[in-house]
Amino acid sequence: MGTLRILSGMRPTGKLHLGHYTGALENWVHQQNLLAEDGSRVYETCFLIADYHILTTSLETADAYQHTIDMLMDWLAAGVDPEKSPVFRQSQVKEHAELFLLFAMLITSSRLERNPTLKEQVRDLNMDSLTYGHLGYPVLQAADILLYKGNIVPVGEDQIPHVEITREIARKFNFHYPHPETGNVFPEPEPKITKFSRLVGLDGKAKMSKSLGNTILLSDTPEEVLKKVRNAVTDTLKVRRNDPGRPEVCTVFSYHKRFTAQGELDSIETGCRSGALGCVDCKKLCAAAISAELEPLLEKRRYYEDRIELVRNILLEGEIKARTIASQTMQEVRTAMKLG
Ligand code: TRP
Repeated sequence: MGTLRILSGMRPTGKLHLGHYTGALENWVHQQNLLAEDGSRVYETCFLIADYHILTTSLETADAYQHTIDMLMDWLAAGVDPEKSPVFRQSQVKEHAELFLLFAMLITSSRLERNPTLKEQVRDLNMDSLTYGHLGYPVLQAADILLYKGNIVPVGEDQIPHVEITREIARKFNFHYPHPETGNVFPEPEPKITKFSRLVGLDGKAKMSKSLGNTILLSDTPEEVLKKVRNAVTDTLKVRRNDPGRPEVCTVFSYHKRFTAQGELDSIETGCRSGALGCVDCKKLCAAAISAELEPLLEKRRYYEDRIELVRNILLEGEIKARTIASQTMQEVRTAMKLG
Protein backbone atom coordinates (compact mmCIF):
# COMPACT_ATOMS: atom_id res chain seq x y z
CA MET A 1 0.00 0.00 0.00
CA GLY A 2 1.29 3.43 -0.95
CA THR A 3 0.41 6.66 0.80
CA LEU A 4 -3.32 7.30 1.02
CA ARG A 5 -4.51 10.04 -1.28
CA ILE A 6 -6.87 12.78 -0.22
CA LEU A 7 -8.90 14.40 -2.94
CA SER A 8 -11.23 17.30 -2.36
CA GLY A 9 -12.64 20.15 -4.36
CA MET A 10 -14.80 23.24 -4.45
CA ARG A 11 -16.90 24.93 -7.05
CA PRO A 12 -15.29 28.24 -8.02
CA THR A 13 -17.64 30.86 -6.62
CA GLY A 14 -15.07 33.64 -6.29
CA LYS A 15 -13.68 34.96 -3.04
CA LEU A 16 -14.14 32.57 -0.14
CA HIS A 17 -15.61 33.33 3.27
CA LEU A 18 -14.89 32.26 6.83
CA GLY A 19 -17.27 29.32 6.56
CA HIS A 20 -15.17 27.85 3.74
CA TYR A 21 -12.15 28.28 5.97
CA THR A 22 -13.43 26.59 9.12
CA GLY A 23 -15.48 24.06 7.16
CA ALA A 24 -12.89 22.90 4.67
CA LEU A 25 -9.72 24.83 3.89
CA GLU A 26 -8.22 24.77 7.33
CA ASN A 27 -8.62 21.02 7.40
CA TRP A 28 -7.20 20.56 3.89
CA VAL A 29 -4.05 22.41 4.92
CA HIS A 30 -3.78 20.39 8.11
CA GLN A 31 -3.94 17.11 6.18
CA GLN A 32 -1.51 18.41 3.58
CA ASN A 33 1.08 19.19 6.25
CA LEU A 34 0.60 16.14 8.46
CA LEU A 35 3.89 14.28 8.93
CA ALA A 36 4.57 10.72 10.05
CA GLU A 37 7.26 9.93 12.62
CA ASP A 38 9.86 9.35 9.91
CA GLY A 39 9.17 12.82 8.51
CA SER A 40 7.29 11.64 5.45
CA ARG A 41 3.87 13.00 4.61
CA VAL A 42 0.92 11.03 5.92
CA TYR A 43 -1.26 11.85 2.92
CA GLU A 44 -0.90 12.88 -0.67
CA THR A 45 -3.30 15.72 -1.33
CA CYS A 46 -4.93 16.98 -4.55
CA PHE A 47 -7.37 19.87 -4.72
CA LEU A 48 -9.75 20.30 -7.58
CA ILE A 49 -11.58 23.34 -8.90
CA ALA A 50 -14.97 22.08 -10.05
CA ASP A 51 -15.66 24.56 -12.84
CA TYR A 52 -17.82 22.11 -14.80
CA HIS A 53 -19.99 21.54 -11.73
CA ILE A 54 -20.86 25.24 -11.68
CA LEU A 55 -22.57 24.73 -15.04
CA THR A 56 -24.97 22.15 -13.63
CA THR A 57 -26.98 24.81 -11.81
CA SER A 58 -26.45 27.98 -13.82
CA LEU A 59 -25.90 28.52 -17.50
CA GLU A 60 -24.89 32.14 -17.08
CA THR A 61 -21.49 31.62 -15.60
CA ALA A 62 -20.19 34.69 -14.02
CA ASP A 63 -16.59 34.84 -15.19
CA ALA A 64 -15.62 31.29 -14.22
CA TYR A 65 -11.93 31.90 -14.76
CA GLN A 66 -11.87 35.06 -12.66
CA HIS A 67 -13.76 33.22 -9.93
CA THR A 68 -11.23 30.42 -10.16
CA ILE A 69 -8.30 32.79 -9.72
CA ASP A 70 -10.03 34.56 -6.80
CA MET A 71 -10.71 31.27 -5.09
CA LEU A 72 -7.24 29.92 -5.76
CA MET A 73 -5.65 33.00 -4.17
CA ASP A 74 -7.67 32.30 -1.03
CA TRP A 75 -6.53 28.66 -1.08
CA LEU A 76 -2.92 29.75 -1.36
CA ALA A 77 -3.37 32.41 1.31
CA ALA A 78 -4.80 29.79 3.67
CA GLY A 79 -1.76 27.59 3.19
CA VAL A 80 -2.48 25.26 0.29
CA ASP A 81 1.02 24.58 -1.01
CA PRO A 82 1.06 23.80 -4.73
CA GLU A 83 4.38 21.98 -4.37
CA LYS A 84 2.66 19.46 -2.14
CA SER A 85 -0.87 19.59 -3.47
CA PRO A 86 -1.55 19.94 -7.18
CA VAL A 87 -4.42 22.36 -7.79
CA PHE A 88 -6.28 22.11 -11.07
CA ARG A 89 -9.48 22.80 -12.98
CA GLN A 90 -11.75 19.99 -14.08
CA SER A 91 -12.28 21.70 -17.43
CA GLN A 92 -8.57 21.52 -18.30
CA VAL A 93 -8.14 17.79 -17.82
CA LYS A 94 -10.17 16.11 -20.54
CA GLU A 95 -10.20 12.77 -18.75
CA HIS A 96 -12.88 14.08 -16.36
CA ALA A 97 -15.35 14.22 -19.25
CA GLU A 98 -14.21 10.86 -20.54
CA LEU A 99 -14.55 8.99 -17.29
CA PHE A 100 -17.86 10.74 -16.59
CA LEU A 101 -19.21 9.27 -19.81
CA LEU A 102 -18.10 5.74 -18.97
CA PHE A 103 -19.41 5.99 -15.41
CA ALA A 104 -22.79 7.08 -16.76
CA MET A 105 -23.25 3.48 -17.94
CA LEU A 106 -22.77 2.14 -14.42
CA ILE A 107 -25.57 3.88 -12.58
CA THR A 108 -29.31 4.08 -13.14
CA SER A 109 -31.20 7.32 -13.48
CA SER A 110 -33.57 6.26 -10.70
CA ARG A 111 -30.61 5.94 -8.32
CA LEU A 112 -29.57 9.49 -9.19
CA GLU A 113 -33.11 10.78 -8.78
CA ARG A 114 -33.06 9.50 -5.19
CA ASN A 115 -30.04 11.65 -4.31
CA PRO A 116 -31.13 13.77 -1.30
CA THR A 117 -28.65 16.57 -2.04
CA LEU A 118 -30.16 16.94 -5.49
CA LYS A 119 -33.67 17.02 -4.09
CA GLU A 120 -32.65 19.78 -1.69
CA GLN A 121 -31.10 21.81 -4.50
CA VAL A 122 -34.18 21.46 -6.65
CA ARG A 123 -36.27 22.71 -3.76
CA ASP A 124 -33.95 25.54 -2.68
CA LEU A 125 -33.38 26.83 -6.21
CA ASN A 126 -37.07 26.44 -7.08
CA MET A 127 -36.30 24.41 -10.17
CA ASP A 128 -39.23 22.99 -12.09
CA SER A 129 -37.12 20.82 -14.35
CA LEU A 130 -33.76 19.17 -14.18
CA THR A 131 -31.04 18.92 -16.81
CA TYR A 132 -29.38 15.64 -17.63
CA GLY A 133 -26.11 17.22 -16.50
CA HIS A 134 -27.48 18.24 -13.11
CA LEU A 135 -28.87 14.75 -12.56
CA GLY A 136 -25.38 13.50 -13.35
CA TYR A 137 -23.65 15.83 -10.85
CA PRO A 138 -22.50 12.96 -8.60
CA VAL A 139 -21.31 10.94 -11.59
CA LEU A 140 -19.00 13.78 -12.55
CA GLN A 141 -17.89 13.99 -8.93
CA ALA A 142 -17.18 10.25 -8.95
CA ALA A 143 -14.97 10.80 -12.00
CA ASP A 144 -13.18 13.65 -10.15
CA ILE A 145 -12.40 11.42 -7.22
CA LEU A 146 -11.64 8.16 -8.97
CA LEU A 147 -9.47 9.56 -11.77
CA TYR A 148 -6.95 10.30 -9.03
CA LYS A 149 -7.82 7.16 -7.06
CA GLY A 150 -8.71 9.27 -4.05
CA ASN A 151 -8.96 7.19 -0.86
CA ILE A 152 -10.27 9.91 1.43
CA VAL A 153 -12.65 12.70 0.51
CA PRO A 154 -12.99 15.50 3.10
CA VAL A 155 -16.42 16.99 2.56
CA GLY A 156 -19.33 18.66 4.29
CA GLU A 157 -22.44 16.78 5.33
CA ASP A 158 -24.33 17.58 2.11
CA GLN A 159 -21.69 15.84 0.00
CA ILE A 160 -21.89 12.46 1.74
CA PRO A 161 -24.50 11.11 -0.72
CA HIS A 162 -22.15 11.96 -3.59
CA VAL A 163 -19.29 10.04 -2.07
CA GLU A 164 -21.68 7.13 -1.47
CA ILE A 165 -22.56 7.14 -5.17
CA THR A 166 -18.83 7.28 -5.96
CA ARG A 167 -18.33 4.14 -3.87
CA GLU A 168 -21.12 2.34 -5.68
CA ILE A 169 -19.68 3.25 -9.06
CA ALA A 170 -16.19 2.12 -8.01
CA ARG A 171 -17.57 -1.20 -6.77
CA LYS A 172 -19.57 -1.77 -9.93
CA PHE A 173 -16.63 -0.90 -12.16
CA ASN A 174 -14.27 -3.18 -10.26
CA PHE A 175 -16.78 -6.02 -10.46
CA HIS A 176 -17.48 -5.76 -14.17
CA TYR A 177 -14.06 -4.69 -15.34
CA PRO A 178 -11.20 -6.21 -13.35
CA HIS A 179 -7.82 -5.21 -14.71
CA PRO A 180 -6.06 -8.27 -16.21
CA GLU A 181 -2.88 -7.62 -14.22
CA THR A 182 -3.78 -5.48 -11.24
CA GLY A 183 -7.35 -6.47 -10.41
CA ASN A 184 -9.35 -3.58 -8.97
CA VAL A 185 -8.74 -0.35 -10.83
CA PHE A 186 -10.44 1.86 -8.23
CA PRO A 187 -10.39 2.24 -4.45
CA GLU A 188 -13.69 2.74 -2.59
CA PRO A 189 -13.18 6.21 -1.19
CA GLU A 190 -14.21 7.16 2.33
CA PRO A 191 -15.90 10.48 3.04
CA LYS A 192 -14.43 12.38 5.97
CA ILE A 193 -16.59 15.01 7.62
CA THR A 194 -14.81 18.09 8.81
CA LYS A 195 -15.07 18.39 12.57
CA PHE A 196 -15.67 22.11 12.99
CA SER A 197 -17.87 22.55 10.04
CA ARG A 198 -20.35 25.33 9.83
CA LEU A 199 -20.29 28.93 10.90
CA VAL A 200 -23.64 30.67 11.22
CA GLY A 201 -24.17 33.72 9.04
CA LEU A 202 -23.90 37.31 10.31
CA ASP A 203 -27.70 37.47 10.16
CA GLY A 204 -27.96 34.48 12.50
CA LYS A 205 -29.06 32.16 9.67
CA ALA A 206 -27.83 28.60 9.92
CA LYS A 207 -25.08 28.99 7.35
CA MET A 208 -22.66 31.56 6.00
CA SER A 209 -23.32 31.69 2.33
CA LYS A 210 -22.57 34.02 -0.53
CA SER A 211 -26.12 33.89 -1.84
CA LEU A 212 -27.49 34.95 1.55
CA GLY A 213 -25.06 37.90 1.71
CA ASN A 214 -24.18 37.15 5.34
CA THR A 215 -20.48 36.40 5.10
CA ILE A 216 -17.13 37.62 6.29
CA LEU A 217 -14.61 37.14 3.49
CA LEU A 218 -11.14 35.75 4.05
CA SER A 219 -9.93 38.83 2.19
CA ASP A 220 -11.81 41.36 4.35
CA THR A 221 -9.60 43.96 6.03
CA PRO A 222 -9.87 44.53 9.81
CA GLU A 223 -12.06 47.60 9.09
CA GLU A 224 -14.41 45.54 6.93
CA VAL A 225 -14.55 42.74 9.49
CA LEU A 226 -15.39 45.22 12.24
CA LYS A 227 -18.11 46.84 10.14
CA LYS A 228 -19.70 43.47 9.42
CA VAL A 229 -19.47 42.13 12.97
CA ARG A 230 -20.97 45.38 14.28
CA ASN A 231 -24.10 44.60 12.27
CA ALA A 232 -24.27 40.94 13.30
CA VAL A 233 -27.39 39.66 15.02
CA THR A 234 -26.99 39.12 18.79
CA ASP A 235 -29.34 38.05 21.54
CA THR A 236 -32.47 40.07 20.66
CA LEU A 237 -33.53 40.17 24.31
CA LYS A 238 -30.36 42.02 25.30
CA VAL A 239 -31.30 45.56 24.42
CA ARG A 240 -29.39 47.79 26.81
CA ARG A 241 -25.78 47.48 27.87
CA ASN A 242 -26.51 46.19 31.35
CA ASP A 243 -29.14 43.64 30.30
CA PRO A 244 -27.93 40.10 30.89
CA GLY A 245 -27.27 38.25 27.62
CA ARG A 246 -27.53 34.64 26.48
CA PRO A 247 -24.32 33.62 24.69
CA GLU A 248 -25.88 30.35 23.52
CA VAL A 249 -28.23 32.18 21.15
CA CYS A 250 -25.76 34.86 20.04
CA THR A 251 -24.12 34.79 16.61
CA VAL A 252 -21.18 36.82 17.83
CA PHE A 253 -20.52 34.45 20.70
CA SER A 254 -20.50 31.53 18.26
CA TYR A 255 -17.65 33.29 16.45
CA HIS A 256 -15.88 33.95 19.73
CA LYS A 257 -16.01 30.21 20.41
CA ARG A 258 -14.02 29.60 17.27
CA PHE A 259 -11.67 32.58 17.21
CA THR A 260 -11.09 33.66 20.83
CA ALA A 261 -8.69 31.91 23.21
CA GLN A 262 -10.25 29.88 26.05
CA GLY A 263 -9.32 32.17 28.97
CA GLU A 264 -10.69 35.26 27.32
CA LEU A 265 -13.70 33.32 26.10
CA ASP A 266 -14.69 32.52 29.69
CA SER A 267 -14.57 36.15 30.73
CA ILE A 268 -16.60 37.17 27.68
CA GLU A 269 -19.22 34.60 28.56
CA THR A 270 -19.38 35.73 32.19
CA GLY A 271 -19.47 39.39 31.16
CA CYS A 272 -22.30 38.77 28.72
CA ARG A 273 -24.38 36.81 31.19
CA SER A 274 -24.00 39.36 33.96
CA GLY A 275 -24.57 42.30 31.65
CA ALA A 276 -21.20 43.87 32.46
CA LEU A 277 -20.00 43.38 28.87
CA GLY A 278 -22.05 45.27 26.31
CA CYS A 279 -22.56 44.06 22.75
CA VAL A 280 -20.58 46.92 21.23
CA ASP A 281 -17.45 46.03 23.18
CA CYS A 282 -17.99 42.31 22.72
CA LYS A 283 -18.23 42.80 18.95
CA LYS A 284 -15.00 44.80 18.91
CA LEU A 285 -13.22 41.95 20.67
CA CYS A 286 -14.75 39.45 18.28
CA ALA A 287 -13.74 41.39 15.16
CA ALA A 288 -10.22 41.74 16.52
CA ALA A 289 -9.96 38.01 17.17
CA ILE A 290 -11.16 37.17 13.66
CA SER A 291 -8.80 39.69 12.06
CA ALA A 292 -5.87 38.40 14.11
CA GLU A 293 -6.41 34.99 12.56
CA LEU A 294 -6.94 36.43 9.08
CA GLU A 295 -3.95 38.75 9.16
CA PRO A 296 -1.38 36.27 7.81
CA LEU A 297 -3.86 35.21 5.12
CA LEU A 298 -4.40 38.82 4.05
CA GLU A 299 -0.70 39.36 3.77
CA LYS A 300 -0.19 36.23 1.73
CA ARG A 301 -3.14 37.04 -0.49
CA ARG A 302 -1.66 40.48 -1.23
CA TYR A 303 1.57 38.78 -2.26
CA TYR A 304 -0.31 36.71 -4.83
CA GLU A 305 -2.54 39.61 -5.95
CA ASP A 306 0.65 41.43 -6.92
CA ARG A 307 1.84 38.37 -8.85
CA ILE A 308 -1.14 37.16 -10.87
CA GLU A 309 1.16 35.55 -13.43
CA LEU A 310 2.53 33.33 -10.68
CA VAL A 311 -1.00 32.28 -9.70
CA ARG A 312 -1.85 31.43 -13.32
CA ASN A 313 1.32 29.37 -13.57
CA ILE A 314 0.59 27.48 -10.36
CA LEU A 315 -2.68 26.41 -11.94
CA LEU A 316 -1.05 25.41 -15.23
CA GLU A 317 1.57 23.34 -13.41
CA GLY A 318 -1.08 21.67 -11.26
CA GLU A 319 -2.95 20.78 -14.41
CA ILE A 320 0.13 19.18 -15.97
CA LYS A 321 0.53 16.99 -12.88
CA ALA A 322 -3.18 16.15 -12.82
CA ARG A 323 -3.15 15.17 -16.51
CA THR A 324 -0.28 12.76 -15.91
CA ILE A 325 -2.20 10.91 -13.21
CA ALA A 326 -5.52 11.10 -15.06
CA SER A 327 -4.17 9.75 -18.33
CA GLN A 328 -2.51 6.87 -16.51
CA THR A 329 -5.83 5.97 -14.86
CA MET A 330 -7.67 6.18 -18.18
CA GLN A 331 -5.11 3.82 -19.69
CA GLU A 332 -5.96 1.27 -17.00
CA VAL A 333 -9.67 1.88 -17.50
CA ARG A 334 -9.45 1.24 -21.25
CA THR A 335 -7.43 -1.92 -20.68
CA ALA A 336 -9.87 -3.21 -18.06
CA MET A 337 -12.84 -2.44 -20.29
CA LYS A 338 -11.14 -4.15 -23.23
CA LEU A 339 -11.57 -1.09 -25.37
CA GLY A 340 -8.26 -1.86 -27.00
N1 TRP B 1 -19.61 18.96 -5.10
C1 TRP B 1 -18.61 19.58 -4.27
C2 TRP B 1 -19.23 20.79 -3.57
O1 TRP B 1 -20.14 21.39 -4.08
C3 TRP B 1 -17.42 20.03 -5.08
C4 TRP B 1 -16.70 18.89 -5.71
C5 TRP B 1 -16.64 18.58 -7.02
C6 TRP B 1 -15.94 17.90 -5.02
N2 TRP B 1 -15.87 17.47 -7.24
C7 TRP B 1 -15.44 17.02 -6.01
C8 TRP B 1 -15.65 17.68 -3.67
C9 TRP B 1 -14.66 15.92 -5.67
C10 TRP B 1 -14.88 16.57 -3.32
C11 TRP B 1 -14.39 15.71 -4.33
O2 TRP B 1 -18.78 21.16 -2.52
